[in-house]
Amino acid sequence: MAQLWGGRFTGETDRMAYEFNASIGFDKRLFHQDIQGSIAHVTMLARQGILTEEEKDSILRGLADIREAVDNGGMEIDESCEDIHSFVEAALIQRIGEAGKKMHTGRSRNDQVALDMRLYTREQVKETDALLKELLQVILTVMEENVETYMPGFTHLQKAQPTTLAHHYGAYFEMFKRDRQRMEDIYRRMNYCPLGAGALAGTTYPLDREYTASLMEFAGPTLNSMDSVSDRDYLIEYLAALSTIMMHLSRFCEEIIIWNSNEYQFVEIDDAYSTGSSIMPQKKNPDIAELVRGKTGRVYGALTALLTTMKGIPLAYNKDMQEDKELSFDAMDTVRDCLTLFTGMLGTMKFRKERMAASAMNGFTNATDAADYLVGKGVPFRDAHGIIGRLVLYCVEKGTSIDRLSLEELQTISDKFEEDIYDAVSLKTCVEKRLTLGAPGPEVMRKVIAEHKKYLMDAEFK
Ligand code: ARG
Repeated sequence: MAQLWGGRFTGETDRMAYEFNASIGFDKRLFHQDIQGSIAHVTMLARQGILTEEEKDSILRGLADIREAVDNGGMEIDESCEDIHSFVEAALIQRIGEAGKKMHTGRSRNDQVALDMRLYTREQVKETDALLKELLQVILTVMEENVETYMPGFTHLQKAQPTTLAHHYGAYFEMFKRDRQRMEDIYRRMNYCPLGAGALAGTTYPLDREYTASLMEFAGPTLNSMDSVSDRDYLIEYLAALSTIMMHLSRFCEEIIIWNSNEYQFVEIDDAYSTGSSIMPQKKNPDIAELVRGKTGRVYGALTALLTTMKGIPLAYNKDMQEDKELSFDAMDTVRDCLTLFTGMLGTMKFRKERMAASAMNGFTNATDAADYLVGKGVPFRDAHGIIGRLVLYCVEKGTSIDRLSLEELQTISDKFEEDIYDAVSLKTCVEKRLTLGAPGPEVMRKVIAEHKKYLMDAEFK
């Protein structure tokens, strides 16, 4: 297939150099965006009197035909072309002849590719947002059903204080909600149209950039043509936000893997999201959770790679920037698959509530509450801390727990203990009394859940 730029050359491009330079193998996924951008450009050119109505109609019909032919399999994207832009233009000229040669008037591939990538990313940002919303919905359902499902809360992966499943999931609700907010933020900032920037310095044709931008539902045109063709900040921001999503998913996966282990048995991952071993018949492994955790690395990799690619590029366009695509596409695909699978896995996971509650009962998760009990009896907190510390040591030596000691035993450590200690250190009391905003106490938890519900009922980007 002919190149777009043969005129100035006498010699042939080295074959390997041609292939090294070509991007069609991966930018063919911008086919629809490329057609959409060309439709807007040509519509604007005709409105400005740069193309005739006939030329415009002919080009638009040609573009629509090519799109349809490729979509229904009647035509293949010719991978011998340098890039997707060359393919569309060549196919158009082949189909409609002379008028097709006028499509690229007042445009460069530099602003064309900047537009295509933005259009593509803009859709991806929306899709990520929708997937996050689905995940939040699953998290919220679990929260609603488990306001009184007790479990140990950890620090240093050591049992710390009792909490509930709703409260634990609530932490992830906050994380993925912020991830959604990042999507909205990125979308707003990136939603400006670079088309009309030309190669780097605009053009002498009287383009109406506002009009082109409005045809593609951008908030407006970009304001500096050099920046327009060389800005990839929006992609970097998106990759950073995707990395953060992966970091959140990875932490959640790590916990699920621990909870699903033979030692914990807090949860059971559904068969649909587990795999077996080729040698050990008893095994049911949390492979999906492990893979999501593992794939976090390649998404971080994409972010680091693009930041590094961009750091030494003088203004304006340089071919280095073609490297923005493969790794971004890979990151986008990876996060889409991870979010989809993770949501499926989470929605089908079973909880072993009795195991969780039993685990919250031992391990002295009620020690802080026992100290607070003594404070209620007039003991200063620091002294109470010391008394309960000695009590815990006593229990450890005897292999028992605070709630299983007799009142006489308790009173050998402090005469402040009375019959009401048993109720004060029961799991139910320990959780129920935690009523500060953001804490697991059921009363306050239900209020937070009601707010989450309202938030999820709103439309996109809220
Ligand atoms: N394939 C190129 C890219 O992805 C398109 C822009 C090419 N522009 C140029 N002047 N060579 O960046």
